[in-house]
Amino acid sequence: MDLLPLILPWTIHLWTRFHVTDAPVSQLFYWDINMRTPVIGGNWKMHKDHAGTTSFFESFRPLVECSRHREIVICPSFLDLDRAVTATRGTRIQVGAQNLFWEKEGAFTGEVSGPMIKAAGCSHVIVGHSERRRYFGETNESVLKKTVAALGAGLIPIVCVGEHKKGNAEAVLMEQFRDGIRPLANGQFARIVIAYEPVWAIGAGETAAPETAADAHRFIRAQARDSFGTEAANSVRILYGGSVKPGNAKSLMAQPEIDGFLVGEASLDPISFASIVNL
Ligand code: PGA
Repeated sequence: MDLLPLILPWTIHLWTRFHVTDAPVSQLFYWDINMRTPVIGGNWKMHKDHAGTTSFFESFRPLVECSRHREIVICPSFLDLDRAVTATRGTRIQVGAQNLFWEKEGAFTGEVSGPMIKAAGCSHVIVGHSERRRYFGETNESVLKKTVAALGAGLIPIVCVGEHKKGNAEAVLMEQFRDGIRPLANGQFARIVIAYEPVWAIGAGETAAPETAADAHRFIRAQARDSFGTEAANSVRILYGGSVKPGNAKSLMAQPEIDGFLVGEASLDPISFASIVNL
């Protein structure tokens, strides 16, 4: 009997668990649910102009050329989406926007729609980042509308959730999930990525302890299981965001619950972002 079809998936599993997640040896010998490809997203926020975008990709591209085990998504400002798409053509680096409006077109001065972002060559869009909730009045209801609009345009929404104050993650996550994510249809939920970003850790230099982040991720996954079933919950990628740096990324990624990162400040520097991607 040809054993290759039996042995190959198991070998890939062991390799992935060992090299990619640094899983403890005890976790190597069962086929666990976490075969999710990690996503490493860079959220540039309101940083970098044309020149900065071009020079970032010139340095970054060769640094991640050999990286096959992560999905890489970089989210520049709207003005540089086109430039980023051109600079990453033919590579595995994908480009996302940081926001969208839910209408397709019309008299909405200053807004950009999902179809426009898709036509620019993007694959992803960040929805409901805490800075948008805080400074631009976004609510769970608008997050839901934007998520549906992004999916309708063929984009993958990276839906951000997270508590403001340390210690009340569950109450906030429950509400954000209930109003912002649960109303999605099963087919819609299957196409989103969730980013757990405790607001107190964003840009603060203080990261959630890996176990604390993993608890929040488990809680979100449990909400997903209740609403969309076990298979959907096991498949959804839940990223961690909040002061992820080359120095703390490895211990966070060692948590099987953490399926990648949404990185702010450390994504602005090609060397530090590449070192997170290449972990
Ligand atoms: P930070 O930002 O890595 O600078 O904390 C993360 C984010 O806001 O997505």
